[in-house]
Amino acid sequence: MSPIPKTAPFAEEEIDLLNRVVGPASANQRAWLAGFLAGLDAASAGAVVPQPAAPARPAEPLTIVYASESGNSEKLAGDVAKSARKSGLKPTTIDMAELDLAALAAAKRLVVIAATWGEGEPPARTIRAYNELMGEGAPRLDGVEFGVLALGDTAYAEFCAVGKKIDERLAALGGKRIADRVDCDLDFAEPAARWIGDAVKALTPPNASGRVIEVDFGLKPVASPSTDIFEAEIIEHVDLNSSRSDKETIHLALSFEGAAPAYEPGDSLDLYPENDPAYVDGLLKAAGLAGDDKLRSELIRSRDVTTLSIKTVESYAASTGHQYVNALLADGQAKGWIAGRQLIDLIATFPIALDAEKLRALTRPLAPRAYSIASSRREVGDEAHLLVSAVRYESHGRARKGVASNYVAERLKRGGRARVKLKPNKHFALPSGDRDIIMVGPGTGVAPFRAFVQERRATQAKGRSWLFFGDRTFTHDFLYQLDWQEALKDGALTRMDVAFSRDTPNKVYVQHKLWDQRSELIKWLDGGAHFYVCGDAKAMAKDVRAALVRAYADVKALSAEAAEQAVVTLEREKRYLQDTY
Ligand SMILES: Cc1cc2nc3c(=O)[nH]c(=O)nc-3n(C[C@H](O)[C@H](O)[C@H](O)COP(=O)(O)OP(=O)(O)OC[C@H]3O[C@@H](n4cnc5c(N)ncnc54)[C@H](O)[C@@H]3O)c2cc1C
Ligand SMILES: Cc1cc2nc3c(=O)[nH]c(=O)nc-3n(C[C@H](O)[C@H](O)[C@H](O)COP(=O)(O)O)c2cc1C
Repeated sequence: MSPIPKTAPFAEEEIDLLNRVVGPASANQRAWLAGFLAGLDAASAGAVVPQPAAPARPAEPLTIVYASESGNSEKLAGDVAKSARKSGLKPTTIDMAELDLAALAAAKRLVVIAATWGEGEPPARTIRAYNELMGEGAPRLDGVEFGVLALGDTAYAEFCAVGKKIDERLAALGGKRIADRVDCDLDFAEPAARWIGDAVKALTPPNASGRVIEVDFGLKPVASPSTDIFEAEIIEHVDLNSSRSDKETIHLALSFEGAAPAYEPGDSLDLYPENDPAYVDGLLKAAGLAGDDKLRSELIRSRDVTTLSIKTVESYAASTGHQYVNALLADGQAKGWIAGRQLIDLIATFPIALDAEKLRALTRPLAPRAYSIASSRREVGDEAHLLVSAVRYESHGRARKGVASNYVAERLKRGGRARVKLKPNKHFALPSGDRDIIMVGPGTGVAPFRAFVQERRATQAKGRSWLFFGDRTFTHDFLYQLDWQEALKDGALTRMDVAFSRDTPNKVYVQHKLWDQRSELIKWLDGGAHFYVCGDAKAMAKDVRAALVRAYADVKALSAEAAEQAVVTLEREKRYLQDTY
């Protein structure tokens, strides 16, 4: 609520200005201001100026470091800063990608919020600082009071691995753990808000700003459930692979009817899926709950019924007391057993009568999935385009289907509606129009580059654009082929190199094409080009980076170390940008 009422004797804009200052001010700041204003009046009446009620002491510092890829940790770091300010601390927020370790050593108190990516790895942009922190040259942190909040996903074997390692490392370097680490799953809003409240309280010295102030340390959960969710109509739903391809990649055009989210090229949309009804029916049958329509509809719409984590196995063992499941955990076999399996396997393999509440308790909320936006608003207006590859595979004798991608491929239809939320990514944005760009995007990794090329056409950007694309076959898997041909014709795309891995006896991938074009590539980079990589994080992104290092070494006759340094320099200058998954 704003402290200055609309009835105050000021103009409306003055009231707004005052509220902007007074609203977020701490009790101590208000007391100072009250004393100061009283002093001004007294002075103008010829009296002696009294001291402000609480003379301001320099606020105690708090350093907040975040390691984030998709923005969650970054947003939470902002919440820590807000809470810290309210309690009289002076927060400084640092992106781990830009962290100088000396700043840690100089910190008095420290909060780290870290996400885990890949298979237990730090976010790509933070690898340099992370390795320095883990390395032998890391400074001592004796006396630094710290707390770590870890973000992750229990579906991954290496749950919150990065947060855990940072927490251990800070202690090993002499730091003093003031707030115990909390490991958050995808539904992190409430546990994170609780942790922030507790940690800021623990890190705030009693005399943070001269006197004890009563502060409400509680924070509302950041992720408001529905306010920024957009509903869109599906106006195009086209499989871009030919009918003879073994892949299915859907071009999905969403229309927002005059109210599209304000997205920029490089941003993604979080898509809210529903589960496959056939899978849910199988699950209910295995649990002995077929016929419970209320539960069925809840599970389809809002529960994660496929993920099987150690936590799920533990809950199953605890709630059912199942002898064999307990034995699986006790023998240390559970981690291996769950690999490639889903919740339905657990219940079908170790059946026991469940009631609706017990089954529900084995599931977590169904999380949205991110998809890179493949269009520019300047070209498509109130639409947003996505490129979604249907995830299908077989494991342990069952045909499996990815939840969201098959919701898109099989159940969303033209004329139907989808729910999405904007996921901005300021770390994957276009440079100014006069800069050259090199884009490496095999498979669905090409999606954001369609947005880049559309944007560059619409803004008549002068910089050159070079796209490296790859997939399985030219004939059946050339995603957006006509778009690229048109862009090459009208100049929005300067050049394009393609790698179709199954068209030649030796598999050719985008990294091989980069190597073939290394002289020209390095020339573009020397001229200031920005280098973008999007798509598969497991192999492609690493191979592409390694190819670029080798290209520098070869073209410029550099040692391996100097070539690596050339790429590190690109990363530091924010000219090597990745959005990989
Ligand atoms: C920033 C970002 C942008 C993205 N952009 C795109 C995009 O433009 N297009 C796109 O298609 N995707 C994109 N993705 C990926 C997308 O978010 C989903 O992860 C993907 O569609 C799979 O979701 P799903 O719900 O269909 O599968 P899920 O139900 O989540 O299942 C996926 C899981 O199945 C398992 N699995 C998958 N394949 C196999 C296999 N062969 N063997 C064993 N297990 C397997 C793995 O555990 C995997 O994690 C993006 C991801 C991020 C983070
Ligand atoms: C491709 C991908 C890989 C991930 N790998 C892991 C992992 O190995 N372990 C884990 O606990 N969480 C993993 N996560 C979950 C993220 O840590 C989680 O979504 C987190 O909230 C992201 O925070 P950020 O937005 O700050 O990057 C992964 C997520 C994605 C999309």
